Amino acid sequence: MEFNIALLKGDGIGPEIVDSAVKVLEKTGQKFNHTFYFKDYLIGGIAFDMTGEPLPVETIQGCLASDSVLLGAVGGYKWDNLSGDKRPEKALLGIRSALGLYTNLRPAPLYPALRSASPLKDEIIGDGFDIMIVRELTGGIYFGERGYREGKYGTEAFDTEAYSVMEIERIGRTAFECAMKRNKKLTSIDKANVLESSRLWRKTMHQLAEKYPEVEYSDLLVDNAAMQLVRNPRQFDVIVTSNMFGDILSDEASQITGSIGMLASASLGDTSRGMYEPIHGSAPDIAGQNKANPIATILSASMMLRYSFDLSEEADCIEKAVDKVLNAGYRTADIMGNTDGTPLTCTEMTEKVLEAL
Ligand code: IPM
Ligand code: MG
Repeated sequence: MEFNIALLKGDGIGPEIVDSAVKVLEKTGQKFNHTFYFKDYLIGGIAFDMTGEPLPVETIQGCLASDSVLLGAVGGYKWDNLSGDKRPEKALLGIRSALGLYTNLRPAPLYPALRSASPLKDEIIGDGFDIMIVRELTGGIYFGERGYREGKYGTEAFDTEAYSVMEIERIGRTAFECAMKRNKKLTSIDKANVLESSRLWRKTMHQLAEKYPEVEYSDLLVDNAAMQLVRNPRQFDVIVTSNMFGDILSDEASQITGSIGMLASASLGDTSRGMYEPIHGSAPDIAGQNKANPIATILSASMMLRYSFDLSEEADCIEKAVDKVLNAGYRTADIMGNTDGTPLTCTEMTEKVLEAL
């Protein structure tokens, strides 16, 4: 088969890790007889530097014309003082929204080989955990009304959290369906003791839960959830939550698996076109030094094969190759834990995965 993939390398370590994933896709294509056509588009700080816009129209059009999108990362110190609408991060929100990608799947499995990289005690890890975070991606406070106004103490800034029943229902349905394919356990995380938007979220989730009697459903307040994730991560299977809470909790979940450099994500909407990206950022402190861990992006490419192209055998093959490399003891700097030895560079790690493929 043939597929057109738009590449949004972005800033910082973005180009290095996307190049790694492209090599892995090409090798997988050779092995299984598929051709992937790649086309680069600008996004983020680099796009701002070259065109004056962090998300040029050609990028949106290019993504819409492709079968799927692979993204590296955006942002960096250089662009930190730009106004809100010119910031690289705004481009990321813009492309998610323009492509209608309201679901963000962030799997956080503990790799047995990386146990020692997890900051959790052995007895908490037990026989391991495997959490799937389903994050709402195109609503909530990220997209609500914002601005400045005169308040009680002078000028103030505000951002608004708003969710409609439609938005909650569609992400809820995705999460219940996801739970049905896994261990049939779903935890919805909100702040319903304080926020009106969370109360509507909870009520809507409860109505959906009636349609999925096989799923063991529960609610959890977000502060408690942050605590439970480090106290007993094994209690979770699928988590569904808002854009903002999902952003925060997925970083926490990634850290307990050992490293944020390992976790992939899939952003999906109502068509097969998705956008796939590591959950980590552009890591400007190590950009251009060939030190980044490419695994999160490689695993994002494998999620693309699985979710957008329905190539599960090919996706399994990439995931097994990554497992094999980790089991053989190869590590980039971020996942060294307390093991000895020299960490691999980004290109060396990529080579190891290609060999395992
Ligand atoms: C993420 C990132 C983004 C987000 C930033 C870079 C806008 O933190 O994908 O988790 O908050 O969604
Ligand atoms: Mg984040």
